[in-house]
Amino acid sequence: MPDYEKYINLIDLNDYPVSWWNELLSLAHEIKQSPEDYAKSCDGRIMGTLFYEPSTRTQMSFQTAMLRLGGTIIGFDNPATSSVAKGENLKDTTKIVSGYADIMVMRHPVEGSVKAAALTADCPIINAGDGGHLHPTQTLTDLFTLKEEKGTLENLTIGFCGDLKNGRTVHSLIKAMTCYKGSRFILVSTPELALPTYIKDMLSAGGFYYKEVTSLDEAIVDIDVLYMTRIQQERFASEREYLEQKGAYILDKNKLKRAKSDLIILHPLPRVDEIAIEVDEDPRAMYFEQARYGMYIRMALIYKILRNSGKPAPLIKGRVHKDVECSNPRCITHKERYLPHYFEGSSDILTCEYCDNRTLV
Ligand code: CP
Repeated sequence: MPDYEKYINLIDLNDYPVSWWNELLSLAHEIKQSPEDYAKSCDGRIMGTLFYEPSTRTQMSFQTAMLRLGGTIIGFDNPATSSVAKGENLKDTTKIVSGYADIMVMRHPVEGSVKAAALTADCPIINAGDGGHLHPTQTLTDLFTLKEEKGTLENLTIGFCGDLKNGRTVHSLIKAMTCYKGSRFILVSTPELALPTYIKDMLSAGGFYYKEVTSLDEAIVDIDVLYMTRIQQERFASEREYLEQKGAYILDKNKLKRAKSDLIILHPLPRVDEIAIEVDEDPRAMYFEQARYGMYIRMALIYKILRNSGKPAPLIKGRVHKDVECSNPRCITHKERYLPHYFEGSSDILTCEYCDNRTLV
């Protein structure tokens, strides 16, 4: 068994069954109810946080989570202050920190980078966001918020609004909600920022109800949960294209007049201008609580992983194809050239094990 198979890593939520997610949600609820029972549960344990990209919520909620469990933290929030600035590669940095820490949390701008680090790390690692690819602990945060605030994850009509094309949190939450029965989806965006076709195909194949609309006023009447998103400037090819979309959807008090009284409004944050500040006072605005729920679910995750409770998900399911290059230019295999080219599949389409991109061979 390779070393990396020993650890319970969290790279992709879909590596684990729904029963695993539900256990975590129950544990987070228990911790939220009785935090004092867990205050010494990670005594003497150390968490390394390696943030190669800016973050407020994810970084600080992980750090707070570990401190509230009685553990301590090391790490960097800016690679320029570490030896990354001297040209150290990902493997060496993460290998070294994993020799100091009992658990690592990493955010990195390149897709597939956290799985790449997990291959050689000497402790478990959690994906805190790898470029536009995955952000599993945000999805856990969203599920926990829904469970706590709505009391159920079933039969909810969720409206997603804004940048549905680039929002990794939207893609992951939609995929996660297809595991709970009765989920319905209202997709509010401009045609340019519509949800990718492969996710709509997945909804159709699973028999889920979804509707695409361009008007938030029209959609807001029917929904139980409104998930607002930021237009992601950093993902646009040009400033002009961004400016054409900027401000397309702004939630304000006036729009909320027609919404259900038990609607909840979520946003992964940070926001720019898509939710007017006046909405913060509305009891239906739940995005600040959502960020706080993120701390409890991360406490549950650290606790579970450090107790080594459960079976690790296999990290690699396919095999090395030495002569095949992943066709995604944003994949970590193009930056860290020593990485083995792991792919799943055997015919003329191979799926990259780092970034999940499909490459024709
Ligand atoms: N939601 C989220 O990931 O926020 P940060 O980028 O501040 O961590």
